[in-house]
Amino acid sequence: MAAKPRVLLTEPVFTEVRELLEAHTDLTIGSRGVYNSEQTLADAISRYDGLLCMLSNPLTGHVAERARNLKVAANYAVGVNNIDLDACREHNIRVANTPGVLTDATADGTLALMLAAVRRIPEAQDYLREEKFDGWHPTGFLGLELREKTLGIIGMGRIGQAVATRCKAFGMDVIYHNRNRLSTELEDSLGASYIPDPLELAARSDIVSLHCPLTQETHHLINKPFLEKMGADSWLINASRGPVVDEAALGEALHNGTIAGAGIDVFEKEPEIHPLLLNAPNTVLVPHITSATRRTRLKMGMLAAGAILRVLCDMDHE
Ligand code: GLV
Ligand code: GLV
Repeated sequence: MAAKPRVLLTEPVFTEVRELLEAHTDLTIGSRGVYNSEQTLADAISRYDGLLCMLSNPLTGHVAERARNLKVAANYAVGVNNIDLDACREHNIRVANTPGVLTDATADGTLALMLAAVRRIPEAQDYLREEKFDGWHPTGFLGLELREKTLGIIGMGRIGQAVATRCKAFGMDVIYHNRNRLSTELEDSLGASYIPDPLELAARSDIVSLHCPLTQETHHLINKPFLEKMGADSWLINASRGPVVDEAALGEALHNGTIAGAGIDVFEKEPEIHPLLLNAPNTVLVPHITSATRRTRLKMGMLAAGAILRVLCDMDHE
């Protein structure tokens, strides 16, 4: 019998994912965080036929060059900005990600972040836990009501659309910007209007929610001029990728009152948080958890593992 293909899973994940890979491959599991270093990944990669990597693992051109035996890299994420796709193509490495399975969890998580921010939930909880609650007050912790407000979505793929549907149910008007305009049928069914100019979307939105991939075009798309267009009553929600936002500019805008507040799940240099964000007023910060439900994270792992088995073992596990 031919030797089993060698697979590197860069850090421990769900038992089910490990067992699926172990059943069909010679599996090595790394320690958490070790392969966040490009050099460590480059030094190890030549031993493996398959890689199941995290969004924190940089599969750069340098790593791809050293990946002599690698036939497939499956990312435990839908976003693939940690992977140099051109380099992988050049070195015949197939790349897989996990689209579809995290759409609803991510859209739910976005609404949780949005509501937590605009209704000031963490701030109110802190007040209560600090034993400052002295009874109901008509003007205590007033926040923003979603009905009749305008939501501006940047990135109208699966997740953006799922957020649009939820926000329509809350009575919001939905406008969007996307690389490509959606079909009129889809726009009609979502009740969303296309805005060609991101700055116009900024000016018209009460809440801007980001759901685009990180690319050269979207890097720092949310910068000082964009934040100034949003204005003092508007909120920013980011559950896409940190570098879509110029964090220093956002930090300043929050401290200066250029915008009203923010709900932020992703950061420019994870796990570092920009100091201006850490102490920004009217801001909810969470550690990249928008897709974090057991059901979704398990499905993502099984999908990624399945992609590896399809390439290396020519099998469909389902
Ligand atoms: C999470 O951020 C993902 O891209 O799946
Ligand atoms: C608030 O608690 C109300 O009953 O209006």
